[in-house]
Amino acid sequence: MAAISESTKNYSQETLVLAICITTVGFLVFFTQTFKFLKWVWTMFLRPPKNLTHYGSWALITGSTDGIGKSLSFDLASKGLDLILIGRNPQKLQTTSNEIWAKFGKENTKIKVIVIDFEKISGEEIENKIKEEIEGLDVGILVNNVGLSTNGARFFHEVGLEGFGNLVDVNIGSVSWVTRGVLPGMLQRRKGAIVNIGSGSSIVVPSYPLYSVYAATKAYVAMFSRSLSLEYKQFGIDVQCQIPLLVATKMASIKRSSFFVPSPDQYSKASVRWIGYESLCVPYWTHSLQWCLLNAIPDSLVNWALLRYFLSLRKKVLRKENKLV
Ligand SMILES: NC(=O)c1ccc[n+]([C@@H]2O[C@H](COP(=O)([O-])OP(=O)(O)OC[C@H]3O[C@@H](n4cnc5c(N)ncnc54)[C@H](OP(=O)(O)O)[C@@H]3O)[C@@H](O)[C@H]2O)c1
Ligand SMILES: *[C@@H]1O[C@H](CO)[C@@H](O)[C@H](O)[C@H]1NC(C)=O
Repeated sequence: MAAISESTKNYSQETLVLAICITTVGFLVFFTQTFKFLKWVWTMFLRPPKNLTHYGSWALITGSTDGIGKSLSFDLASKGLDLILIGRNPQKLQTTSNEIWAKFGKENTKIKVIVIDFEKISGEEIENKIKEEIEGLDVGILVNNVGLSTNGARFFHEVGLEGFGNLVDVNIGSVSWVTRGVLPGMLQRRKGAIVNIGSGSSIVVPSYPLYSVYAATKAYVAMFSRSLSLEYKQFGIDVQCQIPLLVATKMASIKRSSFFVPSPDQYSKASVRWIGYESLCVPYWTHSLQWCLLNAIPDSLVNWALLRYFLSLRKKVLRKENKLV
């Protein structure tokens, strides 16, 4: 009898200790998750944006004649910045300028356009052209937005040499050389913000098959930004990589926005709120939500689904080109 009651007592003591441990861990997890969630709400919706004119009076935007870059130009003008618009098509640059002036008034927003086709010129030629064109201008914000995607899903050995080279020139070359053109002025003034537009393909998924070159160029953009951010913080220059997931633009071949796919206008409203903060961020809230959901799915499952989906896209493209019967 005595032996039995002794063992019950031990047993209940152990249970008590275990229960306390589990409860403590439970509370810790609960508090860290709640804290994370509140921080997310704060940064996503409540945190006051930086005073963007504080960086300087001009903002330079590459790929500003369509999509995200065009919307960003409007939003930066609405914050009181003068604009330097870079594009490859003089006509579209003129149309974009006229639309911005119609909305904000010629007297409120100065606009300078620079025609550059990043598939046609590269390297130091870009750097020198930028330096020449912005001489004497107080460029506070640089948005490296221009980007190119492969024409449909393809195996790497099927990507044409030209398609490969253009992608590297536009996605990696433009970001690097335009930045080199703008940095010296920012260093002199000891202030500036650089925003590089990356892509979810290099951050929120474990791989991006059949678009490997595109995803890899965007991985360069992300790492480049994070490293520069550390290098130049001490000189008052905030460098950041912003990660969009799908946005309804001509590049994504999506015309209508939806819950998970914002319009470029919706996207850029979120984008400007993040300028000058974290070195890597996902500015749009439903994109951030998708990232969170993707994180919860095992990599192998995401890989499997992506490969299947992109293989089916490839078939569609080939069928269109009559290369598959
Ligand atoms: N849309 C998405 O779902 C998505 C997702 C992730 C990341 N991104 C990134 O977001 C950025 C903007 O993409 P978007 O969707 O807004 O694309 P978009 O609608 O196709 O606009 C691209 C802009 O870049 C210009 N451009 C293209 N090639 C150029 C060249 N060789 N030289 C000079 N300018 C050139 C275009 O000029 P034209 O007007 O003359 O065509 C246009 O102004 C890109 O870096 C892209 O990788 C987009
Ligand atoms: C933002 O900064 C500029 C330049 O430093 C200053 O003139 C302006 O008053 C500031 N705006 C606000 C709302 O603080």
